[in-house]
Amino acid sequence: MKIRSNTRIEIGRLFASLEFGERIAHDCATRQAELSNGSHGRFFERQARQESHHARVFGRVILCIAPRGPRPVPLALRDYRTRLNHAGRRGDMVDLLVGQQLVLEGLGELILHRLDRKFDQRHIGFKRLRKVLLAQERGHQAFGERTVQRLVESGEARPERIRELTGEYLVLAQRVLGEMQSVFDVVDADAAWYGAALRERLEHWLDLPT
Ligand SMILES: [Fe+2]
Ligand SMILES: [Fe+2]
Repeated sequence: MKIRSNTRIEIGRLFASLEFGERIAHDCATRQAELSNGSHGRFFERQARQESHHARVFGRVILCIAPRGPRPVPLALRDYRTRLNHAGRRGDMVDLLVGQQLVLEGLGELILHRLDRKFDQRHIGFKRLRKVLLAQERGHQAFGERTVQRLVESGEARPERIRELTGEYLVLAQRVLGEMQSVFDVVDADAAWYGAALRERLEHWLDLPT
């Protein structure tokens, strides 16, 4: 497939951002594993391994299709990482679950799902790999949703805190999207559409009754 050079630059930025997001997810799941035990600890250890594999996959894509040179990732994504790192240092599992499994994974899945359809339309292969990756991301998200719900039901997490955290991480995610519009243009996607879809996906947590 012939790809124009500015398209290659934007695609390089897209995959560099995805790779960066996977590294954030890896570090976060590693910290979550340290803070957990039993089956939860094992889940997060497995998630950390999977995120690290995803990062390597995107790294290989970059090597294959993107030109050399700087591939800046959104500043807001760096801020997102900083915020999760702070939560990790405090050992704040509720903050980590909302920031990582609910919001960041939700955003990642929306982007990957759209990309997956684009790959299908252009008859680009890696079907099995794409399917496995998407299934794993859904699994991480579903686990996070079940865990947060359980924490709310058991009274270990206050609903107003979940609402607040979801809103704060959503604002950060919207900033990430805003910085990626030129990247999305090349895959016929729209930052505003992603933002609205993410908000809709998080509605349950944003409107959690007290
Ligand atoms: Fe991942
Ligand atoms: Fe994930």
